[in-house]
Amino acid sequence: MKILAIETSCDETALAIVGASGGINPSTGSGPKFKILENLVASQIKIHRPFGGVVPNLAKREHIKNLPILLKKLGGERKVRKADIIAVTVGPGLEPALWTGITFAKELAKKYKKPLIGANHLEGHLYSFLIPQKGRRAVNFKKLFPAVSLIVSGGHTVLLLMRSLENWDTLGETRDDAAGEAFDKVARMLDLPYPGGPEIEKLALRGNREAINFPRPMIYDKNYEFSFSGIKTSVLYYLRDNPKTEKADVAASFEQAVIDVLIAKTIRAAKEFSAKSVTLSGGVAANKLLRKTLKKESKKIGAKFFVPDFKYNLDNAAMIAVAGYMTHLRRSAKGGFASGGKKYKLSAQGDIDI
Ligand code: KG4
Ligand code: ZN
Repeated sequence: MKILAIETSCDETALAIVGASGGINPSTGSGPKFKILENLVASQIKIHRPFGGVVPNLAKREHIKNLPILLKKLGGERKVRKADIIAVTVGPGLEPALWTGITFAKELAKKYKKPLIGANHLEGHLYSFLIPQKGRRAVNFKKLFPAVSLIVSGGHTVLLLMRSLENWDTLGETRDDAAGEAFDKVARMLDLPYPGGPEIEKLALRGNREAINFPRPMIYDKNYEFSFSGIKTSVLYYLRDNPKTEKADVAASFEQAVIDVLIAKTIRAAKEFSAKSVTLSGGVAANKLLRKTLKKESKKIGAKFFVPDFKYNLDNAAMIAVAGYMTHLRRSAKGGFASGGKKYKLSAQGDIDI
């Protein structure tokens, strides 16, 4: 089937058309298959940059402007008619921004008489490793689980244990700032533009990762929770006390501290639960050092490593189509998988009822 997906939870307006087939049958090793037919993203970074972060009402205005433009680029009415389902992000995200996508999707669904499915943004990130990649073999669902999944974005840092594609538990979350949020805040302290992650990554390449020993909060705690506001505060005090410091060293040492914590906890969970694979997703997963190190450490413990292509780490609608298809499977299955409920929800909070 073909899915038309819409994502407007933050500062990217995104539309995609994705082909999806197959269901879930772990005993035969089969699973859903996806083909990205169209994937369009209109980034608002330049608009929010002067404000140092996303301004919800500006995001709303831009989404309203961009949605019809993207739909036209996608092929307009002709493409909507060919879609079997429309999927739209219903949360978590910025409410004024979310509503623009939901309203747009509802109008299309009504006009073209298509079923409408609400997709959870974090499930989109979680399932983004299912998006096919050039040069990578199809995912073998028989050898995938249990899997430990790390989602690191601007709003969330979550570690999950996936027993199957439809059954997972949250092992831990951040108690304060998300990893991406810490990157954005430290970037601001270093006078780098928004979004901070890519800027810190660039600056860190010229710095010494061992120059400053920033704390690694909760790294030895026996739970799977995270805390990043302490590192951020340490950077603030360090800059106050050492105004002539080399900024590249601060960026590199900070990046290393965040990555050390993310890797340590993910690998410890993978060992504890004898994970056959480790998956990484969300905007911070675009960080090359994080990808490289987690891949290396996963291999060391005999676990396969999955991370989506760069363009599917940042917010996009292809992953929303994948999450929408999983919800569709859940609903159409008889029994178990259809039950939904909290167990299958990454964040019931913030989801808008459509
Ligand atoms: O998933 P995403 O696009 O949006 C949310 O759902 O929040 O993630 C955006 C976050 C931002 O905080 C951004 O600074 C961070 O991902 N990010 C990075 C990198 N690229 C984006 N963080 C570290 N290194 C990067 N290369
Ligand atoms: Zn996201």
